[in-house]
Amino acid sequence: MSLVISHRGANKEAPENTLPAFRRSLALAVDGFENDVHLTKDGHLVVCHDDSVDRTSNGTGLIADHTLAELRTLDFGGWFAPAFAGTQIPTLEEFYELCDGLKVIDVEIKRAPDGSTAAADGVIRLAKDFGLFDRLLISSFDMDMLQACTACDPLTRTAYLYHDIEEPLVEELHDDLGAFAQKYHLAAYHPFVGFVSQSYIEECHSHGVQINPWTVNQPHALERLRDWGADGVITDLPAQAMEMMYGQPQ
Ligand code: G3P
Ligand code: CA
Repeated sequence: MSLVISHRGANKEAPENTLPAFRRSLALAVDGFENDVHLTKDGHLVVCHDDSVDRTSNGTGLIADHTLAELRTLDFGGWFAPAFAGTQIPTLEEFYELCDGLKVIDVEIKRAPDGSTAAADGVIRLAKDFGLFDRLLISSFDMDMLQACTACDPLTRTAYLYHDIEEPLVEELHDDLGAFAQKYHLAAYHPFVGFVSQSYIEECHSHGVQINPWTVNQPHALERLRDWGADGVITDLPAQAMEMMYGQPQ
């Protein structure tokens, strides 16, 4: 059995990374959430995939160039369906308020446009305020960000995200999965699903590293990863994954 981690919430049923999408996932009794966070111009953490608001709102420009008050005037739901018009961008606090019953809270910190790692501190501090630190798993493609999280609190559980075999760090990772995790104090690997085989999972586990592949949407991939013992699956289709893992039709 692998934990079902809802990718950007139930993003096929409600606008991605919004409270309606996460509430729908809660109704499905998922094990965990994945989201994406950015810092606003005035230092608030908000939940959104892209570093700009263009694709998922009626506004334009970088999140880093807007204050929270400015972002709150934008509609982050109408692009998805008229029924969601007026949906606001969630703050990380609003997201954490939904996480109490979850087993894993995978907060992905996106690389800031200026390369700053300032978001790390707030993600950790707020998780502690909400009593979620023990279930927080911070993921990032940006190793500097993960290192900043570990510097902030060495007990922070971090996961390295990767998808490109050509990247120098991925070459190093594949040279020795155990040594890489130890060097960077990683609790988990979050590889693109195409990398993963049964032996890959077994090797991670032999080094005490968890593995949560993404984005797992095909039934045969869910079934295989479950049977191979993946710790979790990050999926766009949480209802399907819950049925596969727990036999619960939703
Ligand atoms: O956490 C896995 C996945 O979310 C990474 O890619 O682009 O969907 O954030 P992306
Ligand atoms: Ca993500």
